[in-house]
Amino acid sequence: MKRIGIYPGTFDPVTIGHIDIIRRAVQTVDELVIAVALDTGKTPLFDLEDRAKLVRAELAALPAADQQRCRVETFSGLLMHFAEAQGAGIIFRGLRAISDFEYEVQMACLNRKLNDRIETVFLAASEHTQFISSRFVKQIAKLGGDVSSFVSPNVLSHLKAAFEL
Ligand code: COA
Repeated sequence: MKRIGIYPGTFDPVTIGHIDIIRRAVQTVDELVIAVALDTGKTPLFDLEDRAKLVRAELAALPAADQQRCRVETFSGLLMHFAEAQGAGIIFRGLRAISDFEYEVQMACLNRKLNDRIETVFLAASEHTQFISSRFVKQIAKLGGDVSSFVSPNVLSHLKAAFEL
């Protein structure tokens, strides 16, 4: 049976931290669905389709064999409903510092209550991405700071356009 994993997030915007997780998560499954969420409790800078488009563009940097096993989808409503509909058995989440732990474990436990056939698997963020967050990337970019080491050139140009820099 095909092992399908889901990597969900807001991706507002996708950073090199997310790409690090995508590169590693895809090695452990037959297919990885990168799921861009509408319902996140956040007010994103980029709309849902733009966030998905930015993630899709990033996949071009992956080895061809990995690209073929990745797809980007948008979803609304509950993650576990989406995961079930996709036939997924695993949810991947990236864990950065200790500060992520409480929120992530709470979410994993609630999701498990909703559907205990789908496991959440945490991947530790690589050292060079531990401190990156989309929120701070947006804040720094908005205030004219250099975020070129946190996002791709494509995302950078979209950030500049969004903030009219
Ligand atoms: N490296 C660097 N940064 C990382 C990272 C990594 N490996 N992994 C996550 N981040 C950052 C993101 O940039 C983001 O930063 P921000 O908070 O400053 O924007 C933050 O960590 C977490 O964002 P993300 O991974 O995009 O997840 P999220 O917490 O925004 O999204 C969903 C959570 C989409 C999974 C959740 O809201 C959801 O499932 N929504 C659907 C509705 C639902 O089912 N709700 C019930 C949940 S129990």
